[in-house]
Amino acid sequence: MPSSTSSRARRALVLGLTGLLAAGGLATTSGTAEAAGSTLGAAAAETGRYFGTAVAANHLGEAQYASTLDAEFTSVTPENEMKWDAVEPSRGSFNFSSADQIVSHAQSRGMKVRGHTLVWHSQLPGWVSGLSATDLRTAMNNHINQVMAHYKGKIHSWDVVNEAFQDGSSGARRSSPFQDKLGNGFIEEAFRTARAADPAAKLCYNDYNTDGVNAKSNAVYTMVKDFKARGVPIDCVGFQSHFNSASPVPADYQSNLQRFADLGVDVQITELDIEGSGTSQATSYSNVVKACLAVTRCTGITVWGITDKYSWRSSGTPLLFDSNYNKKPAYTTVLTTLGGSSGGGGTPGGATCTATYSKQEEWSDRFNGKVTITAGSSPITSWSTTVTVTSPQKTIATWNGSPTWDSSGNVMTMRPNGNGSLAAGASTSFGFTVMKNGNSAAPAIGACTAS
Ligand code: XIL
Repeated sequence: MPSSTSSRARRALVLGLTGLLAAGGLATTSGTAEAAGSTLGAAAAETGRYFGTAVAANHLGEAQYASTLDAEFTSVTPENEMKWDAVEPSRGSFNFSSADQIVSHAQSRGMKVRGHTLVWHSQLPGWVSGLSATDLRTAMNNHINQVMAHYKGKIHSWDVVNEAFQDGSSGARRSSPFQDKLGNGFIEEAFRTARAADPAAKLCYNDYNTDGVNAKSNAVYTMVKDFKARGVPIDCVGFQSHFNSASPVPADYQSNLQRFADLGVDVQITELDIEGSGTSQATSYSNVVKACLAVTRCTGITVWGITDKYSWRSSGTPLLFDSNYNKKPAYTTVLTTLGGSSGGGGTPGGATCTATYSKQEEWSDRFNGKVTITAGSSPITSWSTTVTVTSPQKTIATWNGSPTWDSSGNVMTMRPNGNGSLAAGASTSFGFTVMKNGNSAAPAIGACTAS
């Protein structure tokens, strides 16, 4: 049963799950009371959201880059490594090595991965634009199928189509090899192909200058509404949110996010960066975070890079960490707007985790259980928890963990199978099969211990 905790999120979770707990369906235990999240990822996790960043594979070897990433973020988007020119530079020949580096870095630390992007007019190799319509359709579908198959089960959300609409008042589609040769239907076709390729991934349409209500966002809105009405698979809309003084955070940002959410899709802030400095930059960032928090279906925020020095708009210093990885005023404001706090309250450097049980498949003779381990407000390097079954139940199989048993065989202690590192707020899970032997009671999950 839940131990006492100061986490607002956990209180809400526990209150909301009382019924399920009674039914033995789900239980949460926490090793240590937690302070408000002290990192972006942990603070966002307490609101049920991820906080991500674009990542470039060639910087992962830089110690401060990797340590800032690992400490602060719970999701990554490869900045360029999954684009068409990177993964299929010549027809039918795929190269996933740089993107794989990012995905394995993220996976080993419990971070989510956003896939970016499958069909886009930019960073598109020359061979694609040279194809006939028939060939282009085949190549587009093959590209989606191959890339999504390679990452199947590892991607939280895919930007299936990026930037297909024109800027300005026309509301028209942007000219591109896809648009020009295949017509409007290419977008729908890409989404249908994508759904079949990895049914577990959320499928997003992603664009810029669609952050407020305007002709371009109206055109995207009309398309999403039509997709939902006709059952074309779409789960989310990404708002890039690249802002500067010429293109500031729109006053109707929140209501624009909300009207998309009301169509029955998630919304995500996918490439946030805001040129500027000091308090005015911090205020703009805070307005973006507030808007997302106010929209239930705004499921996460990704900033387009970690440090100003590697930003694609470096001269505009648009990110949360300066060129020396110092936290900028915008960082602190984002953290506090998320409900987090950088000082006090927590155990300094305290490694904590929670363990949450959920019942999975059940058969007449046995059931599967899953325990999700979530790091608290600090990154952790290892964890352990116990799963106790009621005799004559027997745990006959486990996966994704390294178990030991007490002499009765009823109490299993589970530790990570390999690297147990999790970023603050990040999660991993293990599973097991229990033979009922006449007793279908849910197992008791012990406190989660982290180091
Ligand atoms: C940018 C990258 O940040 C740069 O490194 C690259 O040179 C160009 O692309 N919209 C998108 C992103 O969807 O993929 C773009 O990323 C920024 C605009």
